[in-house]
Amino acid sequence: MKPLLFSGVKPTSTPHLGNYIGALAQWTKLQHDYPCLFSIVDLHAITVPQDPVELREHTLAIAATYLAIGIDPARATLFVQSEVPEHAELSWLLGTITKLGELERMTQFKDKSQKEGAERAGLGLFAYPVLMAADILLYRSTVVPVGDDQMQHLELTRLIARRFNERFGDLFPIPQALVQKVGARVMSLQHPDRKMSKSDATDGGTIWLTDSADVIRKKIMRAVTDTEGGITYDAERKPAVANLMEMYHHMTGMHLDAIEREFSGKGYGDFKKALAEAVVAHLAPISQKLAVYQNDRGELQRILDAGRDHARALAADTISRVRSLMGIGRA
Ligand code: AMP
Ligand code: TRP
Repeated sequence: MKPLLFSGVKPTSTPHLGNYIGALAQWTKLQHDYPCLFSIVDLHAITVPQDPVELREHTLAIAATYLAIGIDPARATLFVQSEVPEHAELSWLLGTITKLGELERMTQFKDKSQKEGAERAGLGLFAYPVLMAADILLYRSTVVPVGDDQMQHLELTRLIARRFNERFGDLFPIPQALVQKVGARVMSLQHPDRKMSKSDATDGGTIWLTDSADVIRKKIMRAVTDTEGGITYDAERKPAVANLMEMYHHMTGMHLDAIEREFSGKGYGDFKKALAEAVVAHLAPISQKLAVYQNDRGELQRILDAGRDHARALAADTISRVRSLMGIGRA
């Protein structure tokens, strides 16, 4: 079977620079190397409470972002996870071969359930990695580009796939994560010890792909830096500057050592100005296209309809094999 790529983003917000650098930017390149499925994983989004009206808006916003960054619907399949009910079905089936202890070990679950305590966390949040395994295995995908925070889920997916194959017969190829070396974890501009995320958005730590040029400039100029000066890369001792340098690398394509040379003898102010302009220049065409797609709902709907139909056809084939191997339903 030829390799197939699967990835997804939750429609919990409009996308931020962390999503873009950590995941989305790779996708536009990878679509030339593999047949790709890119999903908007709304069933994952609702594992923490969402406003229903906003959820639908964000679903279309993520779809528009996929197109705005250059994903070509003629090459890749774009679809909304919940519109292919086989994801939920396979998730249940795989849940029957997943152990509680395996899910309890997931750091994302531990983090997300910390506030209220595991006792009060939802079943959906606990089962989140099983649904993710179902997303990937439903298409018998082998290549899964994700940010560093998803590695543990990928490992569990591999384990579930192996266990299924051993118990019921060889069906699933063992998927591989694809994580980039630089920028796999973009940190908050305000808290370099935390990843850039939706929840860290209130204090300017997060850059949204929809931010105006002025807002981007302000956020970057206000970004915290390290006590030790100089534009040199040392992720341990100077995490704030390292984060900004990685950002600069992704925006300009310049390597870290070239960035050091370029800014040797210069201060944080100069570097931040250059970074702000690089981010503004990089995001301008994306946010323009984003606005166009968001206003052309008809085109967006048409692309998602076609994506859903294609995904369903692939999913139906896997599900019927799974049912048969597991012996559920009638022949
Ligand atoms: P999410 O919005 O949580 O669905 O994440 C979508 C994708 O973006 C996943 O592949 C994440 O690993 C990636 N991602 C999210 N936040 C970051 C971040 N701060 N740095 C790098 N990648 C990220
Ligand atoms: N859990 C991923 C995240 O938070 C999103 C996701 C869901 C995903 N299903 C997936 C990513 C399948 C890759 C493959 O970012």
